[in-house]
Amino acid sequence: MTEQRNTTGTATANSPDGTAAERSQGELVAARGLRRTFNDSPVLDGVDFSMQAGQITVIIGRSGSGKSTLLRVLAGLTEPEDGDLTIAGHLVRKGGVRTDDYAKGEALVGMVFQSYTLWPHMNVLDNLTLAPRKVLGMSRSEAEDRAATALGEVGMAHHIRSRSTGLSGGERQRVAIARALMMRPRLLLCDEITSALDPPVAAEVLSVLARLKNEEGIAVALVTHDMAFASKAADRLVFFSQGRIAVDATPEQVFRGCENAELRSFVEAVTLS
Ligand SMILES: Nc1ncnc2c1ncn2[C@@H]1O[C@H](COP(=O)(O)OP(=O)(O)OP(=O)(O)O)[C@@H](O)[C@H]1O
Ligand SMILES: [Mg+2]
Repeated sequence: MTEQRNTTGTATANSPDGTAAERSQGELVAARGLRRTFNDSPVLDGVDFSMQAGQITVIIGRSGSGKSTLLRVLAGLTEPEDGDLTIAGHLVRKGGVRTDDYAKGEALVGMVFQSYTLWPHMNVLDNLTLAPRKVLGMSRSEAEDRAATALGEVGMAHHIRSRSTGLSGGERQRVAIARALMMRPRLLLCDEITSALDPPVAAEVLSVLARLKNEEGIAVALVTHDMAFASKAADRLVFFSQGRIAVDATPEQVFRGCENAELRSFVEAVTLS
């Protein structure tokens, strides 16, 4: 994949600075031939996946089809057995193995999970600043400045001193998004972050993602069953089946009735549930 480095990584997609419009240009993710097996089953069976900067990609598929595994591989949390991965022009993996350049690419990726992962005994500010300060050695003032900015971006600035146990589920997920924003990611991976929330609260959390895309130029890959959000806000819908991407299309193409019968029945099932 080295030959792709100069073509995939534009300076703008790569840079934490610049305007939202500048940051949302170019190919941000290029994955080729990702493979990962669990218990002799090919969970990722040669996945090719790409994302443009500043786009929202919704990933759907049946339980166990490999959606979370793909996100975890992109975030560097699960090791693939094979495949090449380039993020914002940095070749992160070659033949499944991390390259010397991996940290530059992985640093641009943030991830938010389904379950609330905030420290219950800390307030919101400490939840956001703990890892940057202790792990990365960021100064208190820089970490607090970033936390204030990140909380503003998710509409939670007024809760900066709140204890995380006092927050509602939707508020906790917005703080979890803010925590991921602390490292100024260009790509935010969200794994069923609203599935424990009531629909109106889920819609509020998802609207934060659309705003981050529009105002900050952040690309989002989101695993969700929320077809209302997918049809309104997604630039692309990716359907996973048997360890591969079976359909990669616009929401219009999917909801107008795509040719893949498995996807049609999946969309009907989740829309009716
Ligand atoms: N760490 C692991 N150890 C063993 N098996 C795993 C591991 N992670 C994932 N798997 C298996 O890989 C398959 C795909 O899992 P994955 O979590 O990616 O699916 P998913 O599409 O996210 O499903 P869901 O919609 O239920 O979240 C499943 O059969 C799962 O049991
Ligand atoms: Mg999953």
